[in-house]
This record gives sequence, C-alpha cells and structure tokens, in this order.
Amino acid sequence: TWTTHNVVEEQVALIREQVGTKRAICGLSGGVDSAVAAALVQKAIGSQLTCVYVDHGLMRKGETEQVEKDFVAATGVQLKVVDAQERFLTALAGVSDPETKRKIIGREFIRVFEQAQLEILQEDGPEVAFLVQGTLYPDVVESGGGTGTANIKSHHNVGGLPDDIEFELVEPLRKLFKDEVRMVGQELGLPDEIVQRQPFPGPGLGIRIVGEVTKDRLDLLREADAIAREELTAAGLDREIWQCPVVLLADVRSVGVQGDGRTYGHPIVLRPVSSEDAMTADWTRMPYDVLAKISTRITNEVADVNRVVLDVTSKPPGTIEWE
Ligand code: XMP
Repeated sequence: TWTTHNVVEEQVALIREQVGTKRAICGLSGGVDSAVAAALVQKAIGSQLTCVYVDHGLMRKGETEQVEKDFVAATGVQLKVVDAQERFLTALAGVSDPETKRKIIGREFIRVFEQAQLEILQEDGPEVAFLVQGTLYPDVVESGGGTGTANIKSHHNVGGLPDDIEFELVEPLRKLFKDEVRMVGQELGLPDEIVQRQPFPGPGLGIRIVGEVTKDRLDLLREADAIAREELTAAGLDREIWQCPVVLLADVRSVGVQGDGRTYGHPIVLRPVSSEDAMTADWTRMPYDVLAKISTRITNEVADVNRVVLDVTSKPPGTIEWE
C-alpha cells in the first residue's frame, strides 16, 4: 500500500544501496523538490551528504533564512552557503532585457554551484561521487525517462582537479507527483513554509523588476512582496491562489500625493493567478478588501512606491511572470 511512511523507508534503503560509503552533494534552491530530496538523502546517509545553497540575492524576504536555519534545524543537514549576492548584482548591472537577465542568472548560478562542488571535492576527495536532484515523475516523463550522470568541467581556473568529473545522479523523487512530494516532506518533518511553498521562479526577483536589477530595487520589491504574502496568508488565500507575483515597474514613474506633497514614484503590480499546472491561468477574483489592505500597506510602508495596480490578464495571452 502507498503510504508516505513506506515511500520514505523504500527510498532510504535504495539510497543507502546506491551511495554505499561514498559521498553526495545536493543543491538547495529554497523550493520544495530539492528540499525533500535532500531530506530523504540526509535520512539515508547522514553526514555523507553535503548541501549547497547559492545565495544570489534574488530571493524573497526570509527565504534564505528558512533554508539556513529552519531546514538545517529540521534535518541536521551539513550545509555550505555561498554568498554570491555581489557577483550576481555585478553581472546584472546595466541589463534590462528579460532573456538576457535569465541567461546571466542561469550562467552565474551554474558557475557558482560548480565552484562550490569543486571545493567540496577538494575537501572531501574522490569519495564524492553522487549528485542529488529533485526530479519528479512529470519531469521524467517529459524528458524521455532516462537516468543519467552530470559532468562538471574545470573551466573555472580552480586548478589541480581532473579535467572532467562525472557524478552519478541520485533522484529519490522520480516516482512522485508534486502533492506526494509535499506529503513526503511533511512525513520527514520539514517546515510548512518550505513544504507548502507556492511556485517561485529560479531567477527569483530578478525577473520581477521590469528594468535594471539593483540592490535598492531588490530591497524595495522584497518589502512589497513580503507585505502582499503576509496579507494573502492572513486572508486564508494561499490555497486558492496558485501564486501571486509582485512586480516592480522600475522604469515607470507616476505622480502621487503622499503626506505633505507631490511624489513621483514607482508602481507595484499584483499578479494573483489561479491555475492547475501553470500552463494556463486565470487572474484570481480576490476580495476587494484584501486588495485594499495590501495597497494601503505597500504605499504606506514601502518608500518610493505611490501606486499599486492589479493585473487582470489571463494566461494566455499574458504569462504569469512579467518577464
Ligand atoms: P510563465 O511566466 O511562463 O510561468 O507563465 C509559468 C510558471 O513557471 C514559473 N517560471 C519559472 N520557474 N525558472 C523556474 O524555475 C524560470 O525561469 C521560470 N520562469 C517562470 C512561473 O513562476 C510560473 O509558476
């Protein structure tokens, strides 16, 4: 019979058999899949696992702390955090084009992650032979079903390492759907904030700033986003809403009146959507009083924002994200 308890027991046995006495690395993104995969492998092989978290500075308020503190407390996992915020800001400086931003973020992410892998290899030696990935059943089906290996090539001037290191993949979620992964995460004692997290794009807030990404804009958007999330949760709308991107129109200014005078600030867009699988979506008809509360709080509490607007476009024609 299918129970989360049985799934955990079965996977723990399989992981132990696969990894043996060797070591594994797992990248944590802050999302559900990598967290549950890491927790399963941790349960199976304990200190033979090292997790890596790249802090690219594009996460929402509190998310890095959730990984660094809450996830570690719940699992006892050995975690290497790489603070790459400056590196990402530098790489993104002067860039406004959405596709270019995505490419830069993806490229930098891989470079930083591979650098961390190489450091772990240098510290722990050739026993590091496995890479854990949170691949789900739908991903397996989409990509044709093969299991594989991952190469890292030493094009980073680290020196002293083999030209080409091959990791064998550990993919303990390959038979599971998203809702099952959440249940397994719960069984493993992971915090609700991680297990129930709504979808959030890999490039993070970097693709929710229309215009150039800067530290000040990220801080501003983080505050606005935290307010929106807090009020949506307080209103009990987390289940009804698939996700609600909060977007900063950094290149747009409009006139407002706040306190004693005229302001010339930026608009914040709320994009609450209802969806089954993110392929299509409808804008969520959410209560006006919740919208009012979010709008009042954002314009009062976030400097330089004098307007909050609601995106009432379905997908298609609009995508869920603005970039
Ligand atoms: P769109 O904007 O294409 O988004 O309607 C569909 C879903 O995918 C998420 N999304 C991403 N997730 N990396 C990700 O991991 C990405 O680059 C990315 N872009 C969009 C988006 O949040 C939505 O859930």
